[in-house]
Amino acid sequence: MCGIIGYTGSLDARDIILNGLEQLEYRGYDSAGITLRDGDKSFTKKKAGPVSILRKHCNTDEALGFNCGLGHTRWATHGGVSDVNSHPHIAGNVSLIHNGIIENYHSISKDYGFEDELISDTDSEVAARLINHFYNGDPYDAIKKAVAVIKGSYAFCIIFNDIPDKIFCVRQVSPLVATHADEGSFVASDVTAIISYTNRYFVVPEERIITLTAEGITICDFDGIPEEPDMLEVNWNVESAQKNGYPHYMLKEIHEQPDSLRSTIMPRLKKNIPDFTEDGISDEIFINCNKISIIACGTAMYAGMVGKYMMEPLLKIPVSVNIASEYRYENPILDENTLVIVISQSGETIDTLAALRLAKEYGAKTLSIVNVKGSTIARESDYVFYTHAGPEIAVASTKAYTVQLASLYLIGCRMALVRGKYTPAIAALFTAKLLESIPAINKILLNNSEIKDAAKHIMNATDVFFIGRGLDYAFSLEGSLKLKEISYIHAEAYAAGELKHGTIALIEENTPVVALATQDQIFSKTISNIREVKARGAFVILITKENAVVSDDVYDIHFTVPMKYDRFTVFPVAVIMQLLAYYTSDLKGHDVDKPRNLAKSVTVE
Ligand code: AGP
Repeated sequence: MCGIIGYTGSLDARDIILNGLEQLEYRGYDSAGITLRDGDKSFTKKKAGPVSILRKHCNTDEALGFNCGLGHTRWATHGGVSDVNSHPHIAGNVSLIHNGIIENYHSISKDYGFEDELISDTDSEVAARLINHFYNGDPYDAIKKAVAVIKGSYAFCIIFNDIPDKIFCVRQVSPLVATHADEGSFVASDVTAIISYTNRYFVVPEERIITLTAEGITICDFDGIPEEPDMLEVNWNVESAQKNGYPHYMLKEIHEQPDSLRSTIMPRLKKNIPDFTEDGISDEIFINCNKISIIACGTAMYAGMVGKYMMEPLLKIPVSVNIASEYRYENPILDENTLVIVISQSGETIDTLAALRLAKEYGAKTLSIVNVKGSTIARESDYVFYTHAGPEIAVASTKAYTVQLASLYLIGCRMALVRGKYTPAIAALFTAKLLESIPAINKILLNNSEIKDAAKHIMNATDVFFIGRGLDYAFSLEGSLKLKEISYIHAEAYAAGELKHGTIALIEENTPVVALATQDQIFSKTISNIREVKARGAFVILITKENAVVSDDVYDIHFTVPMKYDRFTVFPVAVIMQLLAYYTSDLKGHDVDKPRNLAKSVTVE
């Protein structure tokens, strides 16, 4: 999940690359580097720390006057965070930046005698040395020979010092997009880095070499046979990808949720009935399946958990939720009657992609719920249901989570309709309730100062627990992840009824417990569990529906959600938990958008 950008054209390359790196920092930000080349003349800087530090070291005339260069923001996989481990890696005639993991870099280094030459601890330097080893003036031959040896995932962008103003790229699994605009040719890990120049781009095909020049981009396979790119168009602009006055991308994206839900839901309603004709999704995968396997990671998986709790009782078929990185080793039981739903905001999460590929090997029908158009997971699924949340820049997923939920709800409703569980009238009523989530979220967004106050009771905690039953338990999983990933406070989600079987031993005086009790059917049971933690000194932040009747000795803070339908409380509840995490992290002075150790798209296993 590193950020990559390359440019060659008529303009000065330094600022184009540094500005692009700043757009890509959310992908990885422990170090950054740039190389500007014009034949023998070059300027290279590689620095641990954010792009702002690199920019300071490029503020010199030496870095001006170049029209071709590469830039890279790193999320360390091999080798610590240091200047020397930053990219680009230079070996002889080759300057290279890389996103991905080379699994056999040790054996390559040994087989080709690089061990005594290596100056970094990275797999990427080995790739640079290998390409340079094969380079005899023909870049295509050198790249072809090197990738024939390499095992793993990669997006390489390469400049050969004796071929000025040209950039050569090749990828396998790791994402790479490219485009040509008036200013020249661009290549990047994703469109956010190039969108200020054009909204048309193409995904670099795997096992192809693309060559960027100021005049344009060519694509050829490893036998040199040329191909034309499949052009795509991105439907958002630079402003969408900026903060628009918010202090953090995360807060902006939390507030974008009414719009992103509307954009995702409305195009799929025909007379208030879910209709996926425009998405090219056939009802037969819904009618013929006898079970559903949901596969994802992190927040996307927790959206899947909510989907399970909503779909299973409705459809009366087994719905499993699988951790993508585990799925591959579980010898899953699936066949052509299994509907595999893959959820991924980025569409590039390698664990999820690998699980998708495995599911397809078993003959399962695959439907992906993806936010990034043209991403690898979207392209490799049988069917794709795009969410329309726009770019999600903050590492902590917020609007992607709620649009994933809405997508699962629409899919569940469509399945109920085509499987005879719902009449059209009931389906229309279902979607009407789903749409009520939008004003419910708006109400929370308009009045969230109390949530900021509640964060003050959490910010100094060492442990926070999120508890609930049924759907509330599924919601609590995401609330716990949001808090820990940006506040660095240990948080744990627990089925409320399970606490007393051990974990309640951890509840001490003032231990914060976020208790969800929005499901009527199990409300009293959940309140009993809350009394158990309260009796042991917990500081209880209770979340219920507006009409809930609960005595004030059960909680210390009480939030209510303006949603009367149990199935749909997740939407306003999610926003409360997102804001709780956001304010806690901000109060602690953390980098809310780029939390430590994390990256937005996990394209390493
Ligand atoms: C969530 O806040 C995290 N950023 C992380 O768990 C993320 O949801 C997970 O890595 C999956 O990413 P994806 O949706 O792009 O596949």
